[in-house]
Amino acid sequence: MNRRDFLASASATTVLPLTALAGQAPLRLRAEAVTQQILPDGDGATAMLGFNGSMPGPELRIRRGKRVVIDVENGLEEGTAVHWHGVRLENQMDGVPTLTQEIINPGEIHTYSFVPPDAGTYWYHSHYISHEQVARGMMGPLIVEDDTPPDIDHDITVLLSDWQMREDGSLIDDYTNMHSASHSGYMGNFARAFLSKSRVKIGDRVRLRLINMATNRIFSLVLSGVSGQVVALDGMPLVEPRPFLDLVLAPAQRIDLIVDVTGPVGFDMNSRQGPYRLADLAVEGANTSRQSSPIMALLPYDLPIPNEPTQRLTLTMMGGAMSRRHGGDNIWAFNDVSDLPTGPFGSFKRGETVRMTMVNDTKFAHGIHLHGHHFFEVNSDGILGDLRDTTLVDAGKSRDIICVFDNPGRWLLHCHMLSHAAGGMRTWVNVA
Ligand code: C2O
Ligand code: CU
Repeated sequence: MNRRDFLASASATTVLPLTALAGQAPLRLRAEAVTQQILPDGDGATAMLGFNGSMPGPELRIRRGKRVVIDVENGLEEGTAVHWHGVRLENQMDGVPTLTQEIINPGEIHTYSFVPPDAGTYWYHSHYISHEQVARGMMGPLIVEDDTPPDIDHDITVLLSDWQMREDGSLIDDYTNMHSASHSGYMGNFARAFLSKSRVKIGDRVRLRLINMATNRIFSLVLSGVSGQVVALDGMPLVEPRPFLDLVLAPAQRIDLIVDVTGPVGFDMNSRQGPYRLADLAVEGANTSRQSSPIMALLPYDLPIPNEPTQRLTLTMMGGAMSRRHGGDNIWAFNDVSDLPTGPFGSFKRGETVRMTMVNDTKFAHGIHLHGHHFFEVNSDGILGDLRDTTLVDAGKSRDIICVFDNPGRWLLHCHMLSHAAGGMRTWVNVA
């Protein structure tokens, strides 16, 4: 196909405010076909999937430590299931068909109910044929509110994604293309960000919650018009806020920033053609009442402290184009096994500390996601690094993680490049 790498980027007018559903009263998400303006205004609208009439789905705002009940109604013509990405919830609420629940059939309602233990930035997405259903739009933000919010003027969610589209706005539904699946995965020719607010003032202090909802794209972002610090990764607060230049998000990863607005705010991704504008945040007027002050850390996380590891495991990513053969029977494999094995890759006693070496023996980057837990990345100096639920391992590299497996149940461990997961790169662990 002879097509430009990217369709023209989004204009300043395409900020889509998200409808927030707040509170601990039962929430309802109806999965359904929607029509959404994805391309800039004036270009064609896109027929896709979403929740409650919109894509992305509504922003769910819930309270830490309080039980939430979410009824998911399947208004699609196919099965589905919803996963609450990153939340350390009860296993049977994890939304993974066959491992933790049955598929929600068309017309059925499935009730999810859990107590989110950690404040932070999460998201929800389909976990059934997800390389296709997420690419078609089944995703939305899930915000667990802080007990004591930081001192900010605006809390803005920034949802990043990309789609393969024709110039008329229709989706090119080539989700299972073998060539892309064996390379970097289904990749859009149009990308943009959806913001939950459209304007701020110069001098405002703003929390930006960046969420990469793309199925396969690693976003490398540059922000203009702000100066500030990273305060959380994958929902978990950093002990010390950290400065940033480029921001890299593998699929499913989140970065929270607290920034001061210094001028018109732009979100650009780095692409081979140079910067590509994903969204603008209009600036109107000045905030004269805010005093300058240092950016403080968010309230600390409350997770079990790792002990000396009692098990060490190696997870080797294999397969894909230009790689050596592996024993699995699909495109991708972990340790020579493709697709979900009948037995777990690891079996852990509840509370056990495990060290896992993730070896990327392929020619492509992979973002590996563990369900139901957060884990520490181990830095090259052997020191415990950031807490994450998804870790990016570049081609030919390896990374150690340390995890306290304190959440009982059957938990998926898979590449969050969803074409790779569909191509076999998934396994599971058992905690008992
Ligand atoms: Cu974001 Cu297995 O999921
Ligand atoms: Cu992968």
